[in-house]
Amino acid sequence: MNLLNRQEAIGVAHSKLILVGEHVVVYDKPAIAIPFPLKIVAKLKETYGQITFSSNLYNGKLDTIPLPMKGLEECIQKAFELCQKPLEGVHIEVTSDIPVGRGLGSSAALATALVRGIYNYFHKSLSLEELYQLVGLAETHAHGKPSGIDMMSVASDLPILYQRTIGASPLIVSKPFHVVVADTGKIGDTKKAVNHVKEIKLRRPQLVEAIIDEIEKIVMEAKEAILTGDAKGLGCLLTKNHEKLKELEVSDPLLDRLVELAIRAGALGAKLTGGGKGGCIIALARDKEHAIHIARKLKQDEAKMVWCFSNISEEIYFVD
Ligand code: PMV
Repeated sequence: MNLLNRQEAIGVAHSKLILVGEHVVVYDKPAIAIPFPLKIVAKLKETYGQITFSSNLYNGKLDTIPLPMKGLEECIQKAFELCQKPLEGVHIEVTSDIPVGRGLGSSAALATALVRGIYNYFHKSLSLEELYQLVGLAETHAHGKPSGIDMMSVASDLPILYQRTIGASPLIVSKPFHVVVADTGKIGDTKKAVNHVKEIKLRRPQLVEAIIDEIEKIVMEAKEAILTGDAKGLGCLLTKNHEKLKELEVSDPLLDRLVELAIRAGALGAKLTGGGKGGCIIALARDKEHAIHIARKLKQDEAKMVWCFSNISEEIYFVD
């Protein structure tokens, strides 16, 4: 094999934030997710022999990948099979800005970047159906029975309204929203949080079903607020959603503290985002300066990392 002109390709995916509706989306209710412009890049290079993998999580041969990442092996094997290529002769190098286990969709983004990279490498066109099928293999391993919102949102450049039984529809935002994200630094466990909600739903079905219905209402109102550019209204809905997530017992003291601090700093609203019990909060600010002000307050307190961006410009304008 001549490796002088080595073949190379990349696949890219971005992170995501669930704006409203996490957990209820598992019960076939709608939720809204937005793109978060942290990126993950998978670079594929021609090499000799077995498929090898390098990332900050694992370096080595694909077939000895650790158990928690086994879904990726399945996803890569299937992608090669669909491209009708033998599983060999490629090194995959992953670089990522997305912290792991913080409800930011890092696992779905990794699988999406890999699949896109493999199809680019073999010059094959990739349909959305194929992408979801392949990323679904990795996600099922990582989360058990995911609703699918993570993989839909990391593959979409627009905010989406997602419902398992219906699919994803893009939402066109009429005015920019200024978003602050703060990381507690604590790794959340989505599978455990989802199981916890399931358990309390079995014990107190009426109460939990009522909370689920209330969150569904919040999501539908949030959709209108996004479409009409009502940042203030959307902020109130975020805070209301956080209260409901607390009732579902998926928040924790650090998330609650950061939410309270953001609101004290004048945020239009704030809530945990993703599975909860660790991970990140999301807050809405009036404008760019206000977003940076809130982010600084959170960072001076317990937040390990903060980011600010506008969902229209698609760039992170403050990170600390
Ligand atoms: O992967 P996370 O932590 O963003 O959680 C996904 C959202 C949940 O609704 C909690 C789970 C799911 O499968 O939708």
